[in-house]
Amino acid sequence: MDRRIFLSPPHMGGKELEYIRQAFDSNYIAPVGPMVDTFEKAFAEVVGIAHAVALSSGTAAMHLAMRNLGVGPGDEVFASTLTFVGSVTPIVFQGARPVFIDADRDTWNLDPDLLADELARCAKNGRLPKAVVPTDLYGQCVDMDRIVSICDHYGVPVISDSAEALGALYKGRHAGVGAAAAVFSFNGNKIITTSGGGMLVSEDGDFIERARFLSQQARDAAPHYEHATIGYNYRMSNILAAIGLGQLECLEARVRRTREIFDYYRTALSEVPGISFMPEAGYGRATRWLTVILIDPEAFGTDREAVRLALEARNIEARPVWKPMHLQPAFVVDADIGSGRQRSNATLRGRYPARAVGGRIAEMLFDHGLCLPSGTAMTRADLDRVIDAVIFCRNL
Ligand SMILES: Cc1ncc(COP(=O)(O)O)c(C=O)c1O
Repeated sequence: MDRRIFLSPPHMGGKELEYIRQAFDSNYIAPVGPMVDTFEKAFAEVVGIAHAVALSSGTAAMHLAMRNLGVGPGDEVFASTLTFVGSVTPIVFQGARPVFIDADRDTWNLDPDLLADELARCAKNGRLPKAVVPTDLYGQCVDMDRIVSICDHYGVPVISDSAEALGALYKGRHAGVGAAAAVFSFNGNKIITTSGGGMLVSEDGDFIERARFLSQQARDAAPHYEHATIGYNYRMSNILAAIGLGQLECLEARVRRTREIFDYYRTALSEVPGISFMPEAGYGRATRWLTVILIDPEAFGTDREAVRLALEARNIEARPVWKPMHLQPAFVVDADIGSGRQRSNATLRGRYPARAVGGRIAEMLFDHGLCLPSGTAMTRADLDRVIDAVIFCRNL
């Protein structure tokens, strides 16, 4: 059997161990320490946002953002339906109801027109959402200026889920800039990783200080342990921050490489009938964190799942595009204005109420989309193996 090609494995740059050794030498084997401070400062500089707090995951970062905004029972929060579940579970942690908004065909990100319509409808009913959480999908920024201007009109804050978009640019600015706050992830599959971790950034220093306080069990200033409110154990460890510091130095090289990988696949596959690629919006530079293709089963002769299984048989890991949130069994979706594909006839035990606004574009992208291996350490021979395997499927 050929060596396994993973979807997006970690790729260390070389300095990480040296920084870990420095962390050991300082004996800050703890969720605080000089590496955490240095990593936060360096990260804030890279994204061009004033304040940052390093956390145990991107999900934790989103949860703190929701908590900071006072999201709670009875509230709604709008989010992309085409995303990873960690983007929306924090809404549910806070007891609020997610409203899943369909993707835009041209960017695959939250559709600003649907957002504008739904906000207008909610404003008329006197029931605006507490926040809007658009995801920068697979390393492509949302149309931030448009989304912020739509939301500003109603005074609704935008929290950017930029977990997949570190290194992406929007009109020359970094992903997440322009939102009230932005979330990043350093999970093992991301463009840079700390094995697990996240960052919450904002221009609002008080917002970040509050998140830092809550991430450390909301411990008040007292010699004993005093808690006027309840917090979380969400801080990033000093050891993982050392990895992050080493990884951050590689970020531009990693973005160059993910874009090269995308170009290599596109050159080899774009003439194949039935295969198309995730579009890049004209307003920015996507990182192409993952190269994503659409497979039209009629024109290609085989569907997405058959291709995925054929790649798996050759020890190549590929994944379907995210299954939309409005199709997830964890949610009971009030689909009166959704696509109707999932109806709310189930009990609520262990499931959570949600609403859907549209959904057909996300469903189509899920049905036909496939993420190809995009690890930045992949060789040309690895890429050729994937390409050959995809082309082979035409004759299945
Ligand atoms: C869009 C999106 N949001 C949120 C998350 C959650 O991040 P984490 O895994 O660090 O909790 C991820 C990735 O893992 C993601 O892809």
